Amino acid sequence: MENDSFLSYHEFFYSKIGEDRFFEEADCKPFNMFFERPAMISMFPDLKGKTALDAGCAAGWFSDYMFKRGADVTAVDLSDNMLMLCRKRLGDNAKIYKCDLSDGLPFLQDESMDFVLSSLTLDYVKDWNMIMDEFYRILKRGGALLFSAKHPYDAYSSKRIETYYQTLNMEHEYEEYGEKVSVFFYKRPLQDMIMPVINSGFKITSLSEPVPTLEFKEVRPDLYDRYAIRPEYLIVKAVKHERQK
Ligand SMILES: C[S@@+](CC[C@H](N)C(=O)[O-])C[C@H]1O[C@@H](n2cnc3c(N)ncnc32)[C@H](O)[C@@H]1O
Repeated sequence: MENDSFLSYHEFFYSKIGEDRFFEEADCKPFNMFFERPAMISMFPDLKGKTALDAGCAAGWFSDYMFKRGADVTAVDLSDNMLMLCRKRLGDNAKIYKCDLSDGLPFLQDESMDFVLSSLTLDYVKDWNMIMDEFYRILKRGGALLFSAKHPYDAYSSKRIETYYQTLNMEHEYEEYGEKVSVFFYKRPLQDMIMPVINSGFKITSLSEPVPTLEFKEVRPDLYDRYAIRPEYLIVKAVKHERQK
């Protein structure tokens, strides 16, 4: 991994507000609850009796959602504290492992998953060719991959970047509880987000640039207008089919 500063965002919350408030505040921020998560959920397949991987589970919100819809859930994350919160939330209801997605998923068997979900985590992974190959490998034929990432337009337009076409490790500064928190993520052009999916053998079946929900407008009227007219997230759904020989 190029740097591990991204952990500071989650570790920051955890160290600042502790476990209970993490679940009450950090885990249900309006950007997640009323923007990215509803858009992702609208693209979920039926999960009853299916195997599902949550790649970058954080405190396990999506893992829990998938478990409650009947999935046999495996959850992975790099952060010890997030894994601890995920275990607290799910107990024995999911198989939970520590893993750096940058090293692939060597402990998961070929064709073992019906569904792979990765929500706002791939922005921290440099090599998308490798991770898409891994998602393809562990999915059963006909299985689906659904991921969200920061939209390249947002990263490009909100920072002074010389060229859109470069993949850059960028710093994003947030102000939380009166303190600055730095998060590093990869900004990449659209072609470098889509081509690794296609080159791994997936067929892209849906793509979304969601707008915030009306609930978001109610709780963050100050931000709604901005995100109603410019994309914040890119969501891609793809299905595993036979590789062309
Ligand atoms: C924005 S959070 C995901 C939030 C989650 N989707 C939700 O709705 O609650 C990103 C997560 O990715 C994890 N992460 C970052 N880089 C990773 C990596 N290389 N391998 C595995 N997990 C990673 C972080 O620890 C963090 O928990």
